[in-house]
Amino acid sequence: MILLDKENNVFTLHTQNTTYQMKADQHSVLVHTYYGPRVAGGDLSYLVRYADRACAPNPSEAGLDRTYSLNTIPQEYSTCGVGDFRLPSIELELPCGSRSADLRYAGCQLRRGKYALEGLPAFRGSEEEAETLVLLLEDAAAQVRVELYYGVFEPLDLITRAVRVVNFGEGPIRLRQCASLCLDFLRSDLDLITFNGCHLMERSPDRAPLRSGVQGVDSIRGASSHQHNPFVVLCDHDAKEDYGLCYGALLLYSGNFQISAEGSQYDNTRLVMGINRYQFCWTLEPGQSFTAPEGALVCSPSGLGQMSRQYHRAIREHLIQDPYEGGRRPVLINNWEATYFDFDADKLVDFAKAAAPLGVELLVMDDGWFGKRDDDNSGLGDWTVNERKLPGGLKALVPRIQELGMSFGIWIEPEMVSEDSQLYREHPDWAFRVPSRTPARGRNQLVLDFSRPEVRQHVYGQIKAVLSSADIAYVKWDMNRSLSDVWSAALPPNRQGEVYHRYVLGVYEMLDQLRRDFPHMLIEGCAGGGGRFDAGMLYYTPQIWCSDNTDAIDRLRIQYGTSFCYPVSAMGAHVSAVPNEANGRTTPIEARGTVAMSGTFGYELDPNKTTQEEKEVIKQQVAFFKEHYHLIQRGGYYRLTDPFANGPYTAWEQVSSDRREALISLVATSLQAAPPFQTLRLKGLDPQLTYQVNGGDSYPGDVLMNAGYPLPLFHGDYQSLQLYLSAI
Ligand code: GLA
Repeated sequence: MILLDKENNVFTLHTQNTTYQMKADQHSVLVHTYYGPRVAGGDLSYLVRYADRACAPNPSEAGLDRTYSLNTIPQEYSTCGVGDFRLPSIELELPCGSRSADLRYAGCQLRRGKYALEGLPAFRGSEEEAETLVLLLEDAAAQVRVELYYGVFEPLDLITRAVRVVNFGEGPIRLRQCASLCLDFLRSDLDLITFNGCHLMERSPDRAPLRSGVQGVDSIRGASSHQHNPFVVLCDHDAKEDYGLCYGALLLYSGNFQISAEGSQYDNTRLVMGINRYQFCWTLEPGQSFTAPEGALVCSPSGLGQMSRQYHRAIREHLIQDPYEGGRRPVLINNWEATYFDFDADKLVDFAKAAAPLGVELLVMDDGWFGKRDDDNSGLGDWTVNERKLPGGLKALVPRIQELGMSFGIWIEPEMVSEDSQLYREHPDWAFRVPSRTPARGRNQLVLDFSRPEVRQHVYGQIKAVLSSADIAYVKWDMNRSLSDVWSAALPPNRQGEVYHRYVLGVYEMLDQLRRDFPHMLIEGCAGGGGRFDAGMLYYTPQIWCSDNTDAIDRLRIQYGTSFCYPVSAMGAHVSAVPNEANGRTTPIEARGTVAMSGTFGYELDPNKTTQEEKEVIKQQVAFFKEHYHLIQRGGYYRLTDPFANGPYTAWEQVSSDRREALISLVATSLQAAPPFQTLRLKGLDPQLTYQVNGGDSYPGDVLMNAGYPLPLFHGDYQSLQLYLSAI
């Protein structure tokens, strides 16, 4: 619910459990007054206090009032160079060369339904589901208008934000920074949680008390990156899964981002999140506008678990566009780890012959099917079928797979080019390179300049032809190196600061085109595993390959970290062969299945190399997953243990919305002789109900939550459990 008090210029956003408030004060400065657990409201500006602080500049409107300073007042969208020395949200380069921005409130609009952003991913909400508030700010000297957008999804405690900057002056303006959101807190006793890692070990949570000064995460790799994720949490020092005040801040963006938290004087905190300032400079000619990517806040007064569950629902119900909406996505088998580049049509048909009777429904042909591509040194950019491997093309292969009862999917990497390719020989200038420099290779490939429409159109034309040549049910869109040598031959020197962002817009545009041309095709995102696992990509690709690391034990950590923001239905996860490719570990197939099942679920092994017993296990796993699909993919997700705490096991739980069903998953990660008796306390059940476990014994919900479920004694490495609870 959005409340406008136009007389006092107070704007209050209420969600089910939270309240967010701003006020345009006596000098038309937009002050942030409150964000936290739901309160009755009224004008909360008395929470903001004023004192004469030495050395703090006072804006001219304040006259001789030395207690009024932008440097101490909580700002809704911080300015630059005019007296607030904390993190700016916007920096304008004016025709005179000044780099400053000064904003005053100029009006508001209220709308039913959620605003949309052209060319950028954004949460969607109908008139019944969401409301929009637009606050207009103006920099009179710069002749620039800043529109702050707020989308309010009441039951989800979700507040989205976006910013549009309009140049209504007569000369060009350059945007040096345009953050998606700024959030000021009148406290600094907070922890900051970020999600960090590397290729093969993505999104490990890192939690530390906020310090004085600026701290945060970013990417300058052209993608959101394996190293940091565009999602952070600020929370009470003692916040836990089920307790404490937590603020999640998510950026819907897949390129260079920056999230900075500043612990400032007088125990205040500022969070600023948006496109990275690194090399960013965007020219706005008179009449032009720029839109910053969307940010999405969830405040949970009752712990991290509730925050995550709200994000999961919001992403599932209002962000992703799922061609299987309401239905079930197929269980797949991917040939990558089993064959790498060494496959042909007959080998793929043999995969399908062995996988179909196990209940697997989709065969995904990974890298190596196109151009001249027998290793990763050539072929990218030539998206035509290699007829030596696949005689007769997809037209001949796909019906052979379909006859076996499976659908067919394919791997692509549209943004890249190998120097050894037809495309590169014809258009060497289409790859990023700085004039007179030799570009750096990554995986022996270069990056195409996707900021240029003609480059995108050419690549898309080839890919569309391949996808139209047969019945393709699925595409895996990969991106296997970070951007370097970023310079576009299509833009003048003074506009090179736009290239990184135009690249991301180009990727989004092509993904959107792909989705519109093939609305029934499932698209999985991927970037060397989980190097572009973000909410921007999820808007176009309902699932993303979580990591190239398929080891079940490492995956416990990767999927745990990922779950703080992103739902199970977004996490690409497969059972692969052992010893694992990434770390050499051997785990039982049951444990591998239990872990991969809390993801999109599939296999990445040669089904012809599995034993009869393994085949039986796979059959049961697939059947179990299909039977409990909705509970697993849409149930409320509870983290029961922290795999980074090095306890004896990792456990998690999914609970149906009516609380009549639950699935507990557990993998034992360390073992000792004479083990203690362990009980696992469950969450989210109905205390009044009694639950039957795996069709056997029954236990009351209140006992399962307060005393726990008595676990068996484990014998042997990496034992696992799946307990299906149904109310009787
Ligand atoms: C990336 C992906 C893998 C696989 C290879 C193919 O590394 O993450 O799953 O598709 O590329 O080259």
